[in-house]
Amino acid sequence: MFRTFRGGHSGGWRVTSISSVTGEPLPFMPALSVTDSEAVSLPLVPSRNAWRLVGAPSNLRYTERPEKEQLVAVQAGLGRMEATSAALIPIRKSQAWWELTQEERRKIFEDKSHHIASSLRFLPAIARQLYHCRDLGEPFDFLTWFEFAPAHAPLFEELVAALRETEEWSYVEREVDVRVVKE
Ligand code: HEM
Repeated sequence: MFRTFRGGHSGGWRVTSISSVTGEPLPFMPALSVTDSEAVSLPLVPSRNAWRLVGAPSNLRYTERPEKEQLVAVQAGLGRMEATSAALIPIRKSQAWWELTQEERRKIFEDKSHHIASSLRFLPAIARQLYHCRDLGEPFDFLTWFEFAPAHAPLFEELVAALRETEEWSYVEREVDVRVVKE
C-alpha cells in the first residue's frame, strides 16, 4: 500500500502553514489531499500548481518488543472524529546517518535521543503514522503524519520542539512542516 500526499488546490485538508525547518522548502499550496493506491504511479509532469509525495508504511526498524507493547497499549488510530488538526512532516536524513550500521543508528535513535521513551507520553493525544520513501526515489526518506484535536496543538509543539533538539535530529538535512485542518 502506498499513500500519496498531494499539495494542491483541492483535498480534504486545508493547509494553514508550510514552513521549512531545515533545507529546501516546499511551495505553499492551499489544500492537501491524502490518497491510497496499490502501486506507485509514474511521477506526474512537474507542476507549479501542486507537489506530490509518496510513501509506504513498513516494518519496524528500531523498536524493541517491550517498546512495541507499550506503544500498542496506548496509541490511537488515525481518523478519529475529534482529530481535525494534522501535520505532515517530510524528513530526509544525511549520508552520514545512512552510512551508520543498524546498531549504531538504534543507539542514536533511542539510547541517546530517547525518541520512543520521550514521545510515549504524547500518546494517545497524538495519533501517528510513519511512511518510508527512501527507496522510492523520493526527495525525502520519511513522511511522518500526525493527527490531533485542536486543543492538543500546544502538546504537539512541545513534542516536535523536543525531538528537534536531539542528537538524532543532527542527522536531519531536510525537514518541512506542513500543518493542515480538516475541511
Ligand atoms: C520513527 C515513535 C513522534 C519522526 C519512530 C519509531 C517509533 C516512533 C516507535 C521507530 C519505528 C521503527 O522501529 O522503525 C514516535 C512516537 C511519537 C513520535 C510515539 C509521538 C507522537 C515523531 C515526530 C516526528 C517523528 C513528531 C517528526 C517531527 C520520526 C521519523 C522516524 C520515526 C523520521 C524514522 C526514523 C528512522 O527510521 O531513521 N517514531 N514518534 N516522530 N519517527 Fe517518531
